[in-house]
Amino acid sequence: MSQSFYLRTYGCQMNARDSEAVTAAMVAAGFAVAPDENGADILLFNTCSVRDQAERKALGKIGILKSLKRERPERIFGVMGCMAQNLGEKLVKDLPHVDFVLGTDQMHRLPEVVNKLLEKRDKLVFVERGDNGDFRGLLQGHRAHREPGGESCSAFVALMRGCNRHCSYCIVPHVRGIERSRPAQEIIDECERLADAGVKELMLLGQNIAAYGLDGSRQVTGPGVSPFAELLRMIDAVKGIERIRFTSPHPLFFNDSLIEAATSLPKVCENIHLPVQSGSDRILDMMNRGYSRKGYMDIVGKLRSRSPGITFSTDVIVGFPTETAGDFEDTRSLLNEVAFDNSFIFKYSPRTGTSAAKMTDDVPKKIKEERNAILLSDLKQRVAMHNQRLEGSVLEVIAEGPSKRDSSRWCGRSRTNKVMVFQNSPDMSVGDFVDVLVKRSTFATLFGVVSMPGRDDMAPQT
Ligand code: 5AD
Ligand code: SF4
Repeated sequence: MSQSFYLRTYGCQMNARDSEAVTAAMVAAGFAVAPDENGADILLFNTCSVRDQAERKALGKIGILKSLKRERPERIFGVMGCMAQNLGEKLVKDLPHVDFVLGTDQMHRLPEVVNKLLEKRDKLVFVERGDNGDFRGLLQGHRAHREPGGESCSAFVALMRGCNRHCSYCIVPHVRGIERSRPAQEIIDECERLADAGVKELMLLGQNIAAYGLDGSRQVTGPGVSPFAELLRMIDAVKGIERIRFTSPHPLFFNDSLIEAATSLPKVCENIHLPVQSGSDRILDMMNRGYSRKGYMDIVGKLRSRSPGITFSTDVIVGFPTETAGDFEDTRSLLNEVAFDNSFIFKYSPRTGTSAAKMTDDVPKKIKEERNAILLSDLKQRVAMHNQRLEGSVLEVIAEGPSKRDSSRWCGRSRTNKVMVFQNSPDMSVGDFVDVLVKRSTFATLFGVVSMPGRDDMAPQT
């Protein structure tokens, strides 16, 4: 019988994509996917390092599962990804039940390393930086592991790896290395393969995606040059793909050419994730972000004037070293001015090796929590209001499948990235485009019914 593995993933969408690729590689090498940790011969953790909390979460889980090793000592434990890259040897020293560690550029070796350990027990740590070929090799497999019935109409496509920006708080360039972009044709081939397999919606991924194809240049590009905009045009032409999203663009690289592509290409969705991090020019400078509040607002203004219904989401850090009440008010007012439909709010956490880690982490935990709570409460109020305004309107949704809470209803997303729950109809399949009339809303969800023009007997939704 083949050996089975269970992979637990932490962190961002890039990690989710890497997990998908290594899962496909393991399945191709003859390993089976286990339904849960208890039933698995091999336990794998694809980890995140971006905040201290993310590392502690994975370390805690790996620690708890030590009992499974005691129960069956032949079980293999492997830690991969960003925290593996960051902590390396230390992981096998501190956690003796861990058998191997694979850094971010070594994950393509997973089947080979597991086979080695099945032959001969050892401790293996590979955290060397790989070249472009290794990285591209990793991304061959797609969704091969999906269970029957687990089909999906959307897929991740990684365009590049690494980041060259060195924002002062960020560990990503340390753990994921320098920027490396995949050749455009390879990406287009992958998008075409996905379209042939029934995928309708793509989420394009890159740590600094708007710098795609710039060969790692840290220069601000001129208004007319954007290899990423060119690539978007090529992906927009792929038959069968209906929607394109991307994450995360650094504002410095969101030039006029990209603004034009993002607002004029029919398949690019009217929802842009544009990390701002702070609304205070002084803090933005200390973060080494390279733009001002005004520069950021100019991009938002241009996008909005070309695409009036566009929605925005962002990442924000509260409690960066020296952040005063005034700096925080600048952030708060910027978030309200842009009127984001979502924001991921983080409390600053110093990361060893970054330049901000040399500054005193002087904003007390309690103040960070207070600022976090204020932004969250603003967000909830604002989005509840936005969603209420959508009641009575019809939005186009891709049917993604039954809702987690209530399988008699289906869920999907609008082009503006609103989560919608609507009644199931017997002839609906995953990937269908349906028009949904919004009947009711909360801050997180819009509830509605499938809109059938000319019919006014649609059942009210509770
Ligand atoms: N502390 C808190 N938040 C951080 N982020 C990155 N590094 C840190 C840190 N040291 C946040 C940024 C980034 C998101 C992915 O995580 O907002 O955009
Ligand atoms: Fe980190 Fe800045 Fe690169 Fe984003 S752009 S991954 S925040 S260094």
